[in-house]
Amino acid sequence: MQSIGAGDPGKQPASSTRQSLIDARHRFLSPSLGTASIYPDNPLILTHGQGQYVFDENNKRYLDCTAQNLCISLGAAHPVTMRMAGEQMHRIQHTTTLFFNEQPIRYAEELVARLPADVDWVVQLVNSGAEAIDLAYMMARAHTGHLEMVALRNAYHGLQFGAGGSTSFSGNRWISPSTQGFVHAIHPDQYKGVFGPGVTPYLDELKRLIAASTCGRIAGMIIEPIQGSGGVVPMPAGYMKGAFEIVRAAGGVCISDEVQTAFGRLGSHYWGFEAHEASPDIIVLGKGMGNGFTIAGVVCRREIAESFAKMRWFNTYAHNPMAAAAARSVLKVVEDEGLQANAQACGDRLLVGLAALKARHDLIGDVRGSGLMLGIEVVRNRTTKEPAVEEGSRIQARLRESGFIMVKGSPTRNTFRINPSLCITFEDVDGLLDAFDRALAAG
Ligand SMILES: Cc1ncc(COP(=O)(O)O)c(C=O)c1O
Repeated sequence: MQSIGAGDPGKQPASSTRQSLIDARHRFLSPSLGTASIYPDNPLILTHGQGQYVFDENNKRYLDCTAQNLCISLGAAHPVTMRMAGEQMHRIQHTTTLFFNEQPIRYAEELVARLPADVDWVVQLVNSGAEAIDLAYMMARAHTGHLEMVALRNAYHGLQFGAGGSTSFSGNRWISPSTQGFVHAIHPDQYKGVFGPGVTPYLDELKRLIAASTCGRIAGMIIEPIQGSGGVVPMPAGYMKGAFEIVRAAGGVCISDEVQTAFGRLGSHYWGFEAHEASPDIIVLGKGMGNGFTIAGVVCRREIAESFAKMRWFNTYAHNPMAAAAARSVLKVVEDEGLQANAQACGDRLLVGLAALKARHDLIGDVRGSGLMLGIEVVRNRTTKEPAVEEGSRIQARLRESGFIMVKGSPTRNTFRINPSLCITFEDVDGLLDAFDRALAAG
């Protein structure tokens, strides 16, 4: 058995064999993580990454179409992230929120400079997306004095106690009690939504939901501009804007969950909400924000933060200066290297190629998304839209053999998601399309 990362101190210990590492993972890490592997029968052990690629213990290279859950936005080992975070590490690794440090303060300033200038935005940093979601809900409640929040069905906002109450996948809701005060509106899925294509029936249903299932005065509503974990379900034009009007009329604030859609990933826009002419009151950020460093945050209108300031709030790691320096590198590099334009160009090329694959392969039911946030839903029958789960798993395994990592994420586990680092090239795109074509043809 090949030893893992033998001789390279930066990687796994030389003595670890693949099987002993897998055994130790099962022995010492919680069984609740068991379902987290995308290849449960044959786990992929990653030892290092470079740009849009990751490598296994045999130094096999893969195009990582997950960007490690959309976290590696610029690419792995990006020299600017390493320099900015590395220099900070040598100065001081951590300053808690009780002290001032240049990095989180400058980050907030640079972030606000990229948001619509007509609003007095302020930033509150945290450590993870779900923590930022919880914070957004607390802020919405503190500001409005209302309890109930509306989320969409098929939404994923995290699994912590508060965020978990708004996440709407049965598979993620069965085990632990979730927090109270959430109602779920029917999501305007244009491919297989219960009201079919269009926006008005979904907005009418939102009004009915608020009238029937809340006291009529709500704290707010949260929307992902594109539902990511729900299987890349884009909000149709007019939905976010219309929903926000309904929410404001009911006394609530409007939250855009941009954990997956921010920082240029969508190509056409820097922020997801911009594509919808919708003006949120609170924006939630995470994942690609730190190019792999643990940082997330809430950006909100000053008056909301002022309402929340009446409560004491503290978080130990929120202002970690290395993470903030890494987050500053994301803002800088997306602009310096034109990564939003690259996301647009590569995304458009993928959409054209995937449309051609759809014309040839009946298994592809739908292709959707924007920039480098794309979804391909595989179905057994284009009329019934029955999920092609096993077929998808075979395709996923073949893609892995060809050097492409793709998750098949959605509640029905039949939507391939393409979310690579924003630095991918046309060569990567063409290679992926070719491998996908061959995997589909193999049946
Ligand atoms: C849209 C969205 N919001 C919130 C979260 C929660 O983020 P985290 O896993 O960092 O807690 C996720 C995670 O996948 C997400 O996709």
